[in-house]
Amino acid sequence: MSILRSMQDQDLAIVRSWRNDPRIRSCFFSQAEISISEHENWFIKKQQDVNNYLKVFELDGQAKGFLQLLCIQRKPEIFEWGFYVAPEHLGQGLGKLLVRSAIEFVFNDLDAKKLIGKVIQGNIVSENIHYAQGFKLEGVLRNECFVYHELKNVLYFGLLKNEWRK
Ligand SMILES: CC(C)(COP(=O)(O)OP(=O)(O)OC[C@H]1O[C@@H](n2cnc3c(N)ncnc32)[C@H](O)[C@@H]1OP(=O)(O)O)[C@@H](O)C(=O)NCCC(=O)NCCS
Repeated sequence: MSILRSMQDQDLAIVRSWRNDPRIRSCFFSQAEISISEHENWFIKKQQDVNNYLKVFELDGQAKGFLQLLCIQRKPEIFEWGFYVAPEHLGQGLGKLLVRSAIEFVFNDLDAKKLIGKVIQGNIVSENIHYAQGFKLEGVLRNECFVYHELKNVLYFGLLKNEWRK
C-alpha cells in the first residue's frame, strides 16, 4: 500500500541523501550539494509557510520518495509541484504511483484548480510522466536555468482539475 504523509524531522537525513544524489540533483534548478545545516534551515522555513506542503511517499511503510507542493496562487488555487523517488528505485514504477497520489491529493484535498510542473528540457522521464498524466505543455521558458553551467530551457506543464482522468 502506498501513502503520502507529512515530512517529519526523522526524514531529514534520507531526504537530503536523495536530493544530493547526482541523478536527482541534476534534474533540479540548483545542482549544488546541500549541507546538513542548509537542509535543516530549509525544512524549518518550509514548515512555517502555510503555502507549502512537504510529503514523504511511502510504499509498504518504507520511505521511497519526496513531494513538495507550493500554492503559487489563491482563487483560483494553483499549485506547483516537485518530486523525486529514492535513487535506488528509479525506473521501477514508483514515480508513477507517487505522481498519481500527488495529483489526487492536490485536486481532492487541497481543492486546487490547476497543477503545474516545471521540467528542465531534456529530462525525458519527467516530460513523459507529465504527458502520461494528462498535463499539457503550456510554454517553453527559454534559457531559464543552468544545469552544470549549460543554459537550458524550462518546459511549463499544466493540468486542470476538469481535465484530470482519475
Ligand atoms: C521523475 C521520476 C520521479 C519518475 O519516477 P520513476 O520511478 O523513475 O518512473 P516510473 O518507473 O514510475 O515511470 C513513469 C513513467 O516515466 C517514463 N519513464 C520511465 N523511465 C523512463 C525512461 N528510461 N525513458 C523514458 N521515459 C521513462 C514513462 O512514461 C513511465 O511510464 P510508463 O512506464 O507507463 O511508460 C524519477 O525519475 C526521478 O525521481 N527523477 C529525478 C527527479 C526528477 O526529475 N523529478 C521531476 C522534476 S520535474
